[in-house]
Amino acid sequence: MNAQPNKTAMKKPTVADNKPIAVELKAGEEYYFCACGKSSNQPFCDGSHKGTGFTPKAFTAEESGDAYLCNCKQSANQPFCDGTHAQVPANQVGK
Ligand code: FES
Repeated sequence: MNAQPNKTAMKKPTVADNKPIAVELKAGEEYYFCACGKSSNQPFCDGSHKGTGFTPKAFTAEESGDAYLCNCKQSANQPFCDGTHAQVPANQVGK
């Protein structure tokens, strides 16, 4: 076991959930997507990223309607789900 975090390794975000979250977006509106995974207001930033090295990802919705946003925080197409959560086991949620 390595008790000391490896400071040179890129930190991984916390897995907020191992499935995406459906939200209703409004076209033209700006949103702050939580990239650190620690927000209590998923999938949006609530300021909990302080000290994590992560910052929220600002994006403007292109269309109004339901969108599936990434909650495993490992999508390559953030803020949107790209299916990566299928490789994230349930025991990683919250870690
Ligand atoms: S709370 Fe996660 S990026 Fe702000």
